[in-house]
Amino acid sequence: MELTLSRVTKKFGKKTALDSISVTLREGVCGILGANGSGKSTLMRILATVMRPTDGSILLDGKDIFQLDADYRTLIGYLPQQVGYYRNFSAERFLHYMASLKGLTKAQANKKVEEMLQWVGMEQHRHEKIGKYSGGMKQRIGIAQALLNDPKILIVDEPTAGLDPKERIRFRNLLAATATNRIVLLSTHIVSDLEYLANNIMIIKDGHFVQMDTPTALLKAMNGNVWTVATTNELLADYQQNYKVGNIIRRENGIVVRLLADEKPSRQAVKAVPNLEDLYLYHFDDLNETRPISLHQN
Ligand SMILES: Nc1ncnc2c1ncn2[C@@H]1O[C@H](COP(=O)(O)OP(=O)(O)O)[C@@H](O)[C@H]1O
Ligand SMILES: [Mg+2]
Repeated sequence: MELTLSRVTKKFGKKTALDSISVTLREGVCGILGANGSGKSTLMRILATVMRPTDGSILLDGKDIFQLDADYRTLIGYLPQQVGYYRNFSAERFLHYMASLKGLTKAQANKKVEEMLQWVGMEQHRHEKIGKYSGGMKQRIGIAQALLNDPKILIVDEPTAGLDPKERIRFRNLLAATATNRIVLLSTHIVSDLEYLANNIMIIKDGHFVQMDTPTALLKAMNGNVWTVATTNELLADYQQNYKVGNIIRRENGIVVRLLADEKPSRQAVKAVPNLEDLYLYHFDDLNETRPISLHQN
């Protein structure tokens, strides 16, 4: 199965949210990484056929998805970034409602709703109102509804935003378990979501396609660009001015900064093994705005 995007462009008035994106997606988890406003949700809405591109085409195994229409929609599951849940519905009622919208028969729905409630660990909460659920519980119901029709293409938009670490891990494991034989598209600006999950990472920036590759290859390309430097409080500002600085670790005898540099930034700098946070920092220098630098006491 192949989903081929050619020059996919989306304009909102003068604003170009997606600028000529061409990429081919295959089975496995593809993480879409991009800062806020880079066009992740727009891309996903288009792939979910909630909106049409201004230009360009999307083919599923050679057939235009908008011409396939309902035949394409039966193949997709979509968990939007902002879900308008029916707060007064119970999980069970909501899932039955979604199953009927997806065209499942009553018998299919009974079986599938049961299976999904168990799978996401919500069977004990099935009669409680969704409005009372925690963020993690809502997202579990969200992924359950997306999977009711056993979709070949699963699109999940920032599903772990706002979840606590435990809920996030639980949700990630659910996603990982669904990934076989499907195209899974997962957008995030939380890099740790992709560490274990993504077969490929697509980086988009301001609506442009930057690159797509395996995490291993992306990190390998950064070898020699990531350094840790033991320094002092006084010199920290210099480093922050001249380099993209990631984590700053405070130690009793000074501080250690992690930074990106094409060449060794100072005599005492030590080469570090690149991780996905470094990759994010490399492409999106607004890391310091979106995620405050953590000051670990050691
Ligand atoms: N319906 C819309 N009308 C006007 N502008 C929009 C609309 N949807 C998104 N945009 C703009 O398109 C850009 C990409 O948005 P979005 O796809 O939501 O990014 P992301 O999901 O990566 O945060 C942003 O600048 C956003 O303001
Ligand atoms: Mg978004």
